[in-house]
Amino acid sequence: MERRKILVTSALPYANGSIHIGHLVEYIQTDIWVRYQRLRGHECLYMCADDTHGTPIMLSARRLGKTPEELIQEMYEEHTRDFRDFHIEFDNYYTTHSPENRELAEYIFQRAKEGGHIVERDVEQYYCPDCGLFLPDRLILGTCPACGAEDQYGDACEVCSSTYGPTDLGNPRCAECGAQPVRKLSRHYFFKLSDFAEALKEWVSGDRVQPEVRNKLEEWFDMGLKDWDISRDAPYFGFKIPGTEDKYFYVWLDAPIGYIASTKNWCDQRGRDFREFWQDPGSEIYHFIGKDIVYFHTLFWPAMLMAAGFRTPDKVFVHGFLTVNGRRMSKSRGTFIKARTYLKHLDPDFLRYYYATKLSASVVDIDLNFDDFVHRVNSDVVNKVLNLGSRLSPLLHKRLDGKLGRLDEDGRELMARLRSSLEVVAQSYEELEFRRAMKEIVRMAELTNKYVNDRAPWDVVKTDPERGRAICTAGLNALRLIAGLLKPVIPRMVGDIEKFLNIEPLTWDDLSADLENHQIGKFSLIARRVEMKEIEGLIADSRESLDEKRVSPTSTPRGREKIEPLEPEITIDDFIKVDIRVGVVLKASHVEDADKLLELEVDLGKLGRRRIFAGIKKAYDPEELLGRKVLVVANLKPKKMRFGVSEGMILAAEGESGDEDVFLLSVDEGAEPGDRVH
Ligand code: MSP
Ligand code: ZN
Repeated sequence: MERRKILVTSALPYANGSIHIGHLVEYIQTDIWVRYQRLRGHECLYMCADDTHGTPIMLSARRLGKTPEELIQEMYEEHTRDFRDFHIEFDNYYTTHSPENRELAEYIFQRAKEGGHIVERDVEQYYCPDCGLFLPDRLILGTCPACGAEDQYGDACEVCSSTYGPTDLGNPRCAECGAQPVRKLSRHYFFKLSDFAEALKEWVSGDRVQPEVRNKLEEWFDMGLKDWDISRDAPYFGFKIPGTEDKYFYVWLDAPIGYIASTKNWCDQRGRDFREFWQDPGSEIYHFIGKDIVYFHTLFWPAMLMAAGFRTPDKVFVHGFLTVNGRRMSKSRGTFIKARTYLKHLDPDFLRYYYATKLSASVVDIDLNFDDFVHRVNSDVVNKVLNLGSRLSPLLHKRLDGKLGRLDEDGRELMARLRSSLEVVAQSYEELEFRRAMKEIVRMAELTNKYVNDRAPWDVVKTDPERGRAICTAGLNALRLIAGLLKPVIPRMVGDIEKFLNIEPLTWDDLSADLENHQIGKFSLIARRVEMKEIEGLIADSRESLDEKRVSPTSTPRGREKIEPLEPEITIDDFIKVDIRVGVVLKASHVEDADKLLELEVDLGKLGRRRIFAGIKKAYDPEELLGRKVLVVANLKPKKMRFGVSEGMILAAEGESGDEDVFLLSVDEGAEPGDRVH
């Protein structure tokens, strides 16, 4: 087989927050794929880095009384430790705040400029005189121009989902200090994305992206590609644009260039040339990303590469988002779990295995369900795979000097049957259908367990030791094969299996040969079963970290985190005016293009049915709402929204961490649709 030369990247995590189990979906998915390619003997470089620039990082540092350089250095250490402990095996984990990245960003900008793809224009923006800062959209709060909701960001309303510019907000405030911002003109650089429209259409026409992603891209092409603002004003933490005094590259310009810079840094240390990967047509480039950053990776990024004369990616693999027990990760529910917190309670290989059983080549979200997690890892990994070693190895040592013999006819038949799965597993890994690969491997383990149980070598050795040895030899050869196939997924455990089998690290090619007449080592416990109480500990531990939120550099400043004044007092007569009713949800569905809204049809008994848009999408799946009793403000004036008219309001409590932290109010057993609430 030809030796491929593959460069693989995962998205660069922001340097102002900890790695959590949502991020890990991506790094584990990528790492499994990379380890698989290496197992096959290909040259597969895995490049990543911290994404260190931008206003949020500058402000986090300010708030913590540190320099941005200090903050990103600390985060770098934390991130690399977390990844190492999850066995994510980067060839290079670098930083975007590096000389290589500066040089490459300047180079690419220069090439784009020479090609006539950069234009300058004046932009009017809010500026906070107190902070001395041009305010990015997410640092401005004000009143939504569409629905009048308070405390909305400068780009989109979380209540009605309409999108707008920051200057459309009513009563704008700086989210950092509360001061009233002023409008100020400033010169900006734009990248003319539309120059690349045809080339990009050509680029996506192959199988470079998944079908769902291609559909999205076609919508974007139809809407027309807009110029992209790639500059930001000082003060900014980033790279200054050459030839300017106070302009910086926008973080999203230099972030993906970090993929190249990381490669260059690695190559330079080895006397190699990064162009081997970024210009030679003989190599392949694969990016792994989440669905939230598709625009950057499938439009801006290939266009920048084209402008600079580099190769465009061969594939961009997009994965969905992680939900936990069917819902968005939530700090208050204890399901916003940091990588480090997980490691204090559970084995990283278990999460790797569980994610593998859920991952496919599709963009759909993946759910971590803890009951399922406990069941899967115990039943598959501990009981079906590791168990083969813990049963057969002691037997071989006790009765047969720990020595494998030769496979007999029966054993060779087993191995042939198992090996007939090799191709399916290989193809499943290659195509990112890890779920299918895990199913096939578990089936192999089941077959092996049945083989061993049916032949009961523990009885056979008493009368026919050599036949007993042959059975153990077959069982342990099967384990070796299965271990080889699981090596990309649970590398630490497979390392321990290799140790007790007393063999060199397995490669794919080793799997077609048998291990015979071989002295094995002593088996020692590789992993214990997971107990539900360990999960409970993990969740409790994650919930506690809510208190730290205010000092953590990840917390975003929001007006509503300050002490909220009580609304003015009302009398009971005022209250009576609010007609609250019990309703039951008949239908629930997503609303196209709305990030926060679900569309519900609610039965209010004698008041009839209502269509209501509720801002609960980040906390609830439509399916879980069907048949659920809710409380509805029934006499709220119907409100016209972008998606239709909303005929009421559902009552919910909102926790501190915002959208995902929403809790529907419910009513005890016995209440009927239409019942009034006092
Ligand atoms: N810094 C940018 C990426 C720059 S790439 C040139 C960024 N960073 S991030 O830290 O927010 O996210 C890193 C990756 O993790 C992204 O691909 C993102 O989609 C993924 N995920 C972050 N949260 C996630 C979940 N809850 N679930 C699955 N993936 C998630 O975006
Ligand atoms: Zn301010």
